[in-house]
Amino acid sequence: MTEWIKVRITDRQVEAEGIVSFALEPVAGGDLPRWQAGAHIDVRLPSGIVRQYSLCGPAEDTRSYQLGVLKEAAGRGGSEYLHSSLRQVDTLEISAPRNLFAMAAQDRAILFAGGIGVTPIMAMAERLALTGAEFEVHYCTRSQTRAAFRDRLENAVGAGRISCYFDDQPGLALDAASILDRPEPGTHLYVCGPDGFMNHILDTARKAGWSPSNMHFERFSATPAQPGGDEPFTIVVEGTGQIIEVAAGQPALQALEDAGIDIPKSCEQGICGTCLTDIVEGIPDHQDMFLSDAEKAANDCFTPCCSRALTPRLTIRI
Ligand code: FES
Repeated sequence: MTEWIKVRITDRQVEAEGIVSFALEPVAGGDLPRWQAGAHIDVRLPSGIVRQYSLCGPAEDTRSYQLGVLKEAAGRGGSEYLHSSLRQVDTLEISAPRNLFAMAAQDRAILFAGGIGVTPIMAMAERLALTGAEFEVHYCTRSQTRAAFRDRLENAVGAGRISCYFDDQPGLALDAASILDRPEPGTHLYVCGPDGFMNHILDTARKAGWSPSNMHFERFSATPAQPGGDEPFTIVVEGTGQIIEVAAGQPALQALEDAGIDIPKSCEQGICGTCLTDIVEGIPDHQDMFLSDAEKAANDCFTPCCSRALTPRLTIRI
């Protein structure tokens, strides 16, 4: 069960075209939970919808958290609300930070940010700069006016470590193949941004021979699922005799909730892994972006927020 922390918006700044930052402080005073670069929080809006945002302030700062939010015209309403409705002194509820994009022990890091994906990458770069680590940042946006936090990033880590690329300036194109052409066991790459950008970086790295264990990424929106079918199926809860019918078009998580089974959830898009549930029998139709290919092939767990079943019945353990 998520424990929600009530926070007040103490600062709101326009950082770039379509991007606003918010500073959040606990209404009750005191410190917020500690966090590490790459972490995100859930934000629960007054309507009850929950969205995930990476933390992008200094990781040592537990007096306040900072978020960067891109206004997404085609989004699900969270960013639209944050951009249009919230002002300083308004309050929100947030979860404690969770980190699904943590940095590894490494000799060198190559960081790639696409658009608003700069938020966790900036926290990582600032952390690496503080520790004197060897790293470089490649930051791609559609135009200079959309490059949020660029000055802050350059001041914090040194302009020489940052290369910026703008889609509207073709002379400044990112050449991922030459940046990634020499994978080394001690070098790790980190990428966050839109799906197309991330797929380009990750595919380029794979072709250059990078080990999956040296490639770290975080997606902030899911591409629409391509289900193998939208057939109804049955979930059996091991050890309880409970049998739950999942209707065509109904998320398995919702069917479980309707049956009184409370599975923790967050993104409800197959990104965060919060709803991961053990499977003891049956084959799931994985539609998430959280599990690796090897984990999906094992078929011993699934994300009921978006995944379904390839067999008429799945037996789960809760
Ligand atoms: S709730 Fe995030 S993967 Fe299911």
